[in-house]
Amino acid sequence: MQVIIFPCMEKLTDYVIEKWLVLSEKAIEKNGRFVVALSGGKTPEKLHMALAQKKDLFDWGRTHIFLADERFVPHADPDSNYRMIRETLLDHLGIPKENVHSVPILESGVKASAKKYEESLVEFFSPSINNFPAFDLIILGIGTDGHAASLFPGSPVLNEKNRIACDVVLGKKMHDRITLTLPVINNAKNVIFIAIGENKAGIAKEILKGRNPKLPASLVEPENGELLLLADRDAGSLITTAC
Ligand code: 6PG
Repeated sequence: MQVIIFPCMEKLTDYVIEKWLVLSEKAIEKNGRFVVALSGGKTPEKLHMALAQKKDLFDWGRTHIFLADERFVPHADPDSNYRMIRETLLDHLGIPKENVHSVPILESGVKASAKKYEESLVEFFSPSINNFPAFDLIILGIGTDGHAASLFPGSPVLNEKNRIACDVVLGKKMHDRITLTLPVINNAKNVIFIAIGENKAGIAKEILKGRNPKLPASLVEPENGELLLLADRDAGSLITTAC
């Protein structure tokens, strides 16, 4: 995993914007589209707002946005990842609505919602590369417990080898979730972890020590893709070149 530590969030977002531009132009030239999966939580908000400010740089007509994970709440719920991504990014882009692939939140429950999302992924990516969707870019945050997307420590979903998206039952406080699985994340051409703030310094250092089944983020190792950890000075404060 390549690690880049930035003096501040603004420099980090400038880097991601440049990376997004290069990757999107390459993907659109090669495949006619650029397909990204975004995460929820707080970390990506400033990045989304910076992307929205520079929206004219990008071809949103040929960019498709999926979610790496979602809470099983209505899209209008304050805890919805889709709502955060819509408010900080999508509402400002003029992106065609058919290019935005939110996670269906069905009355029939989280299992059925995960299945429906999985079906939408299969349809969009068919024919797929080695049976899994191959995102051009997946942007992930890191939980202080080492989770990424909604792949939490000890979750049976970590052992999923066949499914593309799964339901994760976490109960009321954390909300049940729908998440991309590790085979999909590890089939991506580019995965970028973003870690901001002192509270992520410990976990950022830990995941650099190599695969640890207790830390799902350390299991992200794109088989044929690039993996980056981008951190601000605080989140990178415990990382030494020796890692
Ligand atoms: C979610 C996210 C989750 C997030 C981490 C980090 O649904 O909450 O997808 O995986 O990336 O929990 O969250 P923060 O960015 O808020 O620290």
